[in-house]
Amino acid sequence: MVLNRESPIGVFDSGFGGLTVMRSLIDLMPNESLVYIGDTGRYPYGNKPADEVCGYAVELAESLVRDHGAKLIVVACNTAASVALEVLSATLPVPVIGVIEPGARALVRVTHNGKVGVIGTVGTISSKAYDVAVDAIGADVQLTSAACPGFVEFVERDQTDGDEVTLLANRLLAPVKDAGVDALLLGCTHYPYLAPVIQQVMGSGVVLVSSANETAFAARDLLETRGIEAPADAVGSRRFFSSGDVEWFASLGQRLLGPELGEVSPWMSGASS
Ligand code: DGL
Repeated sequence: MVLNRESPIGVFDSGFGGLTVMRSLIDLMPNESLVYIGDTGRYPYGNKPADEVCGYAVELAESLVRDHGAKLIVVACNTAASVALEVLSATLPVPVIGVIEPGARALVRVTHNGKVGVIGTVGTISSKAYDVAVDAIGADVQLTSAACPGFVEFVERDQTDGDEVTLLANRLLAPVKDAGVDALLLGCTHYPYLAPVIQQVMGSGVVLVSSANETAFAARDLLETRGIEAPADAVGSRRFFSSGDVEWFASLGQRLLGPELGEVSPWMSGASS
């Protein structure tokens, strides 16, 4: 397949979380066109079996390539990336990047005491994808992981602060806090929206690392290496799709991402969008 410089980058997540990656992509490469699918109709992914999430990821990525001619797929969801990156890379006719390796690289770079943590969904943490990614870097660090079931649901409900979230955060973050980490990777793309609460619970001495910027840098490097980056004078367009309530996606999405999120169109499983 011949990849076209003017084609969009395809991005997907289970819902709103991937908008943190969209923000970084837009800021770093305003000339690139982007198509985003939030699979809010089937979210959350974090507590679903790996093969089910893998099937969703394949379907979404194939739709981005087939229906929108995506030249690169960014899996802006840790849960999906942890179970589907290999199969996507092996089967799609375009390059694919996830959020896990870029996040792991950023994490080991910022630690001073060698004790690092990662938090994510049950699916991501139990996949051990971060243990593998950190090992592959070969850095001398001790990684402590904690699953945070419930965090994603708070974000999807637009409840990003308050007593309920703080109470849950105090309980779920205890293992990484007790381990004395000085750097904590937000290993779920929804979590940056909870960063004020997470920071408050972890304390100001802990650096929170989001994989969004690192993933955008990795995407730019890949496009440039392959010679398929958009022309410098191109004006990037952005399109948004949701498999759930498109009006809710538009209203909360705009608050989370910003004014670039305009109209949201329906995306239907098994149909061309
Ligand atoms: N943003 C997804 C991630 O990074 C959330 C997964 C979910 O839907 O539970 O893992």
